[in-house]
Amino acid sequence: MTTSLPPARTPGQYAVALVCLGNICRSPMADVVLQQRLGAAGLDDRVSVASCGTGDWHVGNPMDRRAAATLTTAGYDATRHRAQQLDASWFDRFDLLLEMDRSNLSDVRASTTEPDRAMLFRSFDPVDPGSEVPDPYYGGDNGFQEVLAMVERTTGALVAALTQHLTQGTERT
Ligand code: 4NP
Repeated sequence: MTTSLPPARTPGQYAVALVCLGNICRSPMADVVLQQRLGAAGLDDRVSVASCGTGDWHVGNPMDRRAAATLTTAGYDATRHRAQQLDASWFDRFDLLLEMDRSNLSDVRASTTEPDRAMLFRSFDPVDPGSEVPDPYYGGDNGFQEVLAMVERTTGALVAALTQHLTQGTERT
């Protein structure tokens, strides 16, 4: 099954926002993994990535220490993240807003005139498409490992979709 991407606002470029509730656990993990994979694919100059939360409790804070430890152990750089909150500017700046759960998705869709640009992050999950990324904040360390596994496999398919989208959109000379 192929999940199609909303059209780019700027041809040849693409901007992806990752959205959860607090922007200290799930969407920062997806942000770090997606940026690392785009760099490895040579797409980091064409695809921009950022993450935010619908809530404001943690704005300006680094990610949750358990999320950071899980990423660091797996070889990612978790040090640069600072939490941001979703506001109206995100709907103008991003081609695609990927939400971690259905509550995030309905919050985002209720706030935009372009709801088709919002979809579940795990729409791209090759194992269980359309599922949620469960919130690990109130659970144990295992939850963060599970989130990382979902994020890594979903990101692989998302990068493939972005590659295809950008390649199809490139004019040949
Ligand atoms: P996240 O997890 O949405 O994955 O960043 C949460 C972090 C903080 C809170 C809720 C969820 N909180 O209520 O503070």
